[in-house]
Amino acid sequence: MGNLKKSLGLFLVVCAVLVMLPEASATRWTVGGKMGWSPNVNYTIWARGKHFYNGDWLFFVYDRNQQSVLEVNKTNYETCNTDHPLHNYTTGAGRDVAPLNVTRDYYFVSGNGFCYGGMKVHIHVEKPPPPPMASPEKAASSTLSSSGHVLLLPLAFAIGVAWDAFLRVW
Ligand SMILES: *[C@@H]1O[C@H](CO)[C@@H](O)[C@H](O)[C@H]1NC(C)=O
Ligand SMILES: *[C@@H]1O[C@H](CO)[C@@H](O)[C@H](O)[C@H]1NC(C)=O
Ligand SMILES: *[C@@H]1O[C@H](CO)[C@@H](O)[C@H](O)[C@H]1NC(C)=O
Ligand SMILES: *[C@@H]1O[C@H](CO)[C@@H](O)[C@H](O)[C@H]1NC(C)=O
Repeated sequence: MGNLKKSLGLFLVVCAVLVMLPEASATRWTVGGKMGWSPNVNYTIWARGKHFYNGDWLFFVYDRNQQSVLEVNKTNYETCNTDHPLHNYTTGAGRDVAPLNVTRDYYFVSGNGFCYGGMKVHIHVEKPPPPPMASPEKAASSTLSSSGHVLLLPLAFAIGVAWDAFLRVW
């Protein structure tokens, strides 16, 4: 009975970790917070002190009859030129999502002249941070492997052991 509880406990912990890992690593940012994507928000101030990581998302909430979401390059961001957007995220619903899926600088502006009033945001995207629980030993060994493989192998092994014990008891 004690064995069953132990294996079941381990099994549940492993499941919980597996479920939580991807969630903990990506953030969906609502641009402008409660104010959303609107005039009269200083987005330089909004972005200040925030860390945007590759894999995060930007969520633009705005008045679909007036504003839009355009990704432009640095030059066109500075001059508010929306003639050659790199990407037009405007779908027409007033709620658009832009993935920050490359480690680089992103520049978003609103069309219809709102950019001139300050409706523009520069997002500096950083490489994802290392897993928070990595011990010095693990950090050293993970430099050998480029990504999460070091963590996944023992995890898969633990699941196997737990599952095996789980099946045998039942
Ligand atoms: C941005 O695109 C414009 C053309 O729309 C080009 O003239 C300019 O050099 C580009 N700037 C950068 C920083 O790539
Ligand atoms: C962006 O896409 C929307 C919806 O398709 C369209 O109405 C708008 O004209 C486009 N804007 C630019 C600058 O391409
Ligand atoms: C990033 O997302 C954009 C917009 O959905 C897509 O066009 C692009 O192919 C993606 N790039 C990578 C490297 O996944
Ligand atoms: C936003 O705030 C920054 C820092 O206070 C300032 O330099 C910038 O001019 C402001 N931008 C707008 C559009 O008001």
